[in-house]
Amino acid sequence: MSEVLRVTKTFFAYLKRPDLYPELGRKIIKNIFNRNAAFKGKEKTNFWASSIAVTQETAINNLFGKDCIPFSEQFATEFQTALQKQNTCPIKMGGAGALELIYAACEYTQSKNVLETGVAYGWSSFAALQSLTTRNGHLYSSDMPYLGQDGDQYVGYVVPEDLKKNWRLFRHADRESLPKIFLYQKEFDVVHYDSDKAYEGMFWAYGELYKHLRKGGVFISDDINDNSAFQDFCEKNAIEPTVISFEGKYIGVFVKD
Ligand SMILES: C[S@@+](CC[C@H](N)C(=O)[O-])C[C@H]1O[C@@H](n2cnc3c(N)ncnc32)[C@H](O)[C@@H]1O
Repeated sequence: MSEVLRVTKTFFAYLKRPDLYPELGRKIIKNIFNRNAAFKGKEKTNFWASSIAVTQETAINNLFGKDCIPFSEQFATEFQTALQKQNTCPIKMGGAGALELIYAACEYTQSKNVLETGVAYGWSSFAALQSLTTRNGHLYSSDMPYLGQDGDQYVGYVVPEDLKKNWRLFRHADRESLPKIFLYQKEFDVVHYDSDKAYEGMFWAYGELYKHLRKGGVFISDDINDNSAFQDFCEKNAIEPTVISFEGKYIGVFVKD
């Protein structure tokens, strides 16, 4: 699909969804006035991240005192079913985060409430719910659907049906979803950020997620290498995070003091 056609399709899809007008306005302003601000500090952060990065196995071991068991082996049957669903999905969406890390964080904190931004196929949702349901806990997710692709109905496509009763999905942009989620639940054991990858959106959401993370809770952010929002947020709050090198990108994680 050509770029012009894609942008036009996305624009008209937005027009059909008044609840997403605030995000449409923000996107227009960002694209006109602030196009490069999304990548602010990228070079600095990549240098910093590469100097301290460890593997997912080391991070799970150091932070949670556990071995890293591949999610695809620990939940082999469910994983294969999810993979088959992804392969037959007519819409192509963003890839999975570090499932072992998410699952281990939920187990470590004995989570009852987890908040994530960014669902797409729902791999991270699947990992969190797999742990949460053993305690009848709940996952609150925010995801702004793939409007240009008519992808709304496929958000969370790989999440097993029997886990969905413990899942609350808010289908708006984070700036609208997060305040709604906080009306239902104020404190979380684990927060996982994996949605808007622009500096401003990340920095804003980190502040919101951090405020609502309990002491001893785990904060995870995917794709911290796109700009310096995660590094700047940690420095501002005197947090010493663990950085994980994962499939050609970096993930940031810390336990809240
Ligand atoms: C990388 S994917 C998430 C992958 C998912 N965590 C997983 O492990 O399978 C990013 C998702 O964030 C959503 N997204 C992007 N910007 C957003 C925003 N401002 N608010 C809410 N969701 C957003 C995209 O629509 C996409 O579904």
